[in-house]
Amino acid sequence: MEVKIVNNQDEAGQIALEIFEETLDHGGRVFGFATGSTPETTYDAIVKSDLDFSKSIGINLDEYYGLPSTHPQSYAQFMREKLYAHKSFQNAFIPNGMNKNPESEKEKFDQILENYPRDLQLLGIGVNAHIGFNEPGTAFDTTTQLVDLTDETINANKRFFESIEDVPRQAYSMGIKSILDAKKIILMAFGKEKASAIKAMIDGPVTEDVPASILQQHPNVTVILDHEAASEWDYPNERVI
Ligand code: GLP
Repeated sequence: MEVKIVNNQDEAGQIALEIFEETLDHGGRVFGFATGSTPETTYDAIVKSDLDFSKSIGINLDEYYGLPSTHPQSYAQFMREKLYAHKSFQNAFIPNGMNKNPESEKEKFDQILENYPRDLQLLGIGVNAHIGFNEPGTAFDTTTQLVDLTDETINANKRFFESIEDVPRQAYSMGIKSILDAKKIILMAFGKEKASAIKAMIDGPVTEDVPASILQQHPNVTVILDHEAASEWDYPNERVI
């Protein structure tokens, strides 16, 4: 893992932008995208840039189960607002939260991931160290699945909804194996509430109790943190581990 500490989220967005640019320059065309507030400055930077994604494919990590793509809090809507309305892509995929048949959604999304191997995957991290919506205890060899969200995650995401009752209890998510299949991964985290997850991810044992800890075994991961997210990790200014 290469860990970079930045002063603010805009700086993080710029570093991520450079990695997107480098990936495109090297012929990469399939990008895995994340939602949540963490990647917003990256999307802003991409939108303001002159990078050309018109021959690229975007694939999202996850989607709430039971939300139509037009719902204001669906991840499909988030992606349209933050990225796709401003940058044209050749094609974009996201799990269909309205598919009531988890087996068929799994089959369909796994096939998409197989057809389009990702050159770069952007990730945030949950307060409990989940990646995508793969909660603690998820097996490392999972592909797409319907997951039950933990109370911690429901609580953390309630800020986007009118009340906690409105937060969906389940979601479709790329599995951990699917995430690891990406050639390169950027994980970003900001704020104190992510600090213990970050410490466990970087320095803790690789365990299914800490889903992000598996990233220690991926050959090409860049972690971008603000000082608060890095505050529980005893770090030098920048280090490669
Ligand atoms: C959700 C998403 C994750 C994201 C996490 C953190 O649970 N499924 O992909 O990383 O939230 O969100 P935020 O960036 O808003 O802190």
